[in-house]
Amino acid sequence: MAIAYLDGVWQAIHDAKVSVLDRGFMFGDAVYEVIPVYRNKPFMLVEHIQRLATSLAEIKIHNPMSTEQWLELIGEAIFRAEEAYALVYVQVTRGVAQRREHVWPENASPTILVTVSGSPALAETHTSSDIKPYVMIIAEDFRWQRGDLKSTCLLAAGLFKNEALAQGADDAILIRDGLVTESSSSNVFVVIDNVLVTPPKSRMILHGITRDLILTLARELNIPVEERDIKQSELAEASEIMVSSAGREVWPVGVINGISVGNGGPGVVWDKLNTGFQVIKDKL
Ligand code: PDD
Repeated sequence: MAIAYLDGVWQAIHDAKVSVLDRGFMFGDAVYEVIPVYRNKPFMLVEHIQRLATSLAEIKIHNPMSTEQWLELIGEAIFRAEEAYALVYVQVTRGVAQRREHVWPENASPTILVTVSGSPALAETHTSSDIKPYVMIIAEDFRWQRGDLKSTCLLAAGLFKNEALAQGADDAILIRDGLVTESSSSNVFVVIDNVLVTPPKSRMILHGITRDLILTLARELNIPVEERDIKQSELAEASEIMVSSAGREVWPVGVINGISVGNGGPGVVWDKLNTGFQVIKDKL
């Protein structure tokens, strides 16, 4: 059952309503997190709550709860939803203003939204024999220069995703100043000369929780890793490309702009990382 907690009230997700004067609705003045749930347990929840705290601090919204309170609230949300495999969505806005103006309201209290929706896709464990690698287009990354903030202003992400779908693809790999940044809602990795390469953390990309886990896993598996800029031209040299996110774990890319990546199938490095990821998940 998809449920919502909105400012202290538990309700069915479709019943939850915010004011038109909520800064999140009016200005996208809000940040969020998406946390996967496997077998009723949240995955890497503390890391997500820490990133939420960072996003809030960066946009100067007072964090309305302590880490312990967040953990408790999200635990209760998962319990109430009764969904073994789900995505928890957490959003905090600057709150409701008295009127529409750019200046932040002085005494608004942050609006807190937590939803839990079942996600059957998270119950699927893919292997190289059944996974369908993504088909990607390349798009210019015209987003603002704070991709590190998990802001709810996702207009650009929607444009990229829908343009990709219109072209018969699954998603877009984004390029800024000739360099790969990320995908519309995931981080990007390439394998060149057997080295797993991903762009370094900067203000231009989201510091993905799954990205961190994949890097840790790669090091444990003795896969050489480099965090460095990736030129667009290097995409053609990659034997493998993959993306990572809370919703998609680690997913191979088979085609970019109509050209096969490697042999077009999931590669050996993806296979090792995916196998390692499933082991970690099963230990939850
Ligand atoms: N997206 N980059 C962008 C732009 C993202 O929106 C996301 C996550 C990621 C991966 O971050 P993480 O591994 O922490 O999920 C990278 C979420 C899932 C979403 O918006 O639905």
